[in-house]
Amino acid sequence: MYTQLEQRGMPEPPVNVSTLRKMKNDGDPIACLTAYDASFAVLVDAAGTDLVLVGDSLGMVIQGHDTTVPVTVDDIVYHSRTVARGLRRAFLVADMPFMSYTKPDQALDNAVRLMQEGGAMMVKLEGGDDQVGIVEHLARHDIPVCAHLGLKPQSVHKIGGFKVQGREPDKAREMLVAAQRLQDAGADIVLLECVPNEVAERVTQALDVPVIGIGAGPGVDGQILVLYDILDITQGRTPRFVKNFQEGCDSPLKALQSYVRAVKERTYPEPEHCFS
Ligand code: KIV
Repeated sequence: MYTQLEQRGMPEPPVNVSTLRKMKNDGDPIACLTAYDASFAVLVDAAGTDLVLVGDSLGMVIQGHDTTVPVTVDDIVYHSRTVARGLRRAFLVADMPFMSYTKPDQALDNAVRLMQEGGAMMVKLEGGDDQVGIVEHLARHDIPVCAHLGLKPQSVHKIGGFKVQGREPDKAREMLVAAQRLQDAGADIVLLECVPNEVAERVTQALDVPVIGIGAGPGVDGQILVLYDILDITQGRTPRFVKNFQEGCDSPLKALQSYVRAVKERTYPEPEHCFS
């Protein structure tokens, strides 16, 4: 098992939770991207991406739905398995889809599927304080967890659209408290989506675990974007935080390398990609 994990002979060992924690402590930005198939996984890995997420955004960019709500556990298992085959160094995280973690044992059964059948090394779920019990249950069974706060796309019908979260002082405080409680419950990563810079920075400084942002400004430990958005594949209106890295690059690999470099050198996100 250990030789498999260490991938003997590789110039750089595979990323794991300790690597990610050390990157936070060393101030080394974590470059993350989504991927949904083996071919793109090979490119994303070759570009030096540290963490790859099989996101339920696949409901929109692969399946053509308007939201992530229709995505099933079977869908994520299928795509995660294909991505796992393409990765060598990057850490693989898979999304728990809508309604797949409403009860502790249901969450555990589905997380086990994502890891055993999908090859994921961590599962991601959306939720704040309300998910502390679920995170505790998964962590007690040694399932690594990423807790997704801020804009939670699975709640889009309840929120009434894709909106920035945490602008009001009481909501910002709630987010900080939820992030701390999720960390205490065993979350290994917190992901913040569409959050004002200042709020994201405060959460990042308060936590020991890495905080990854999407539309959360430059003050977090790492950045994540949807692969098809940065390669200019997504048509129509894209969110404010998206940057087209394909522009000026003559191959997808070069575009991905340009994204990883921008995250590492902290030249992305720029002010126009941020919320206040
Ligand atoms: O599903 C997804 O791709 C995500 C990212 C946007 C963070 O959750």
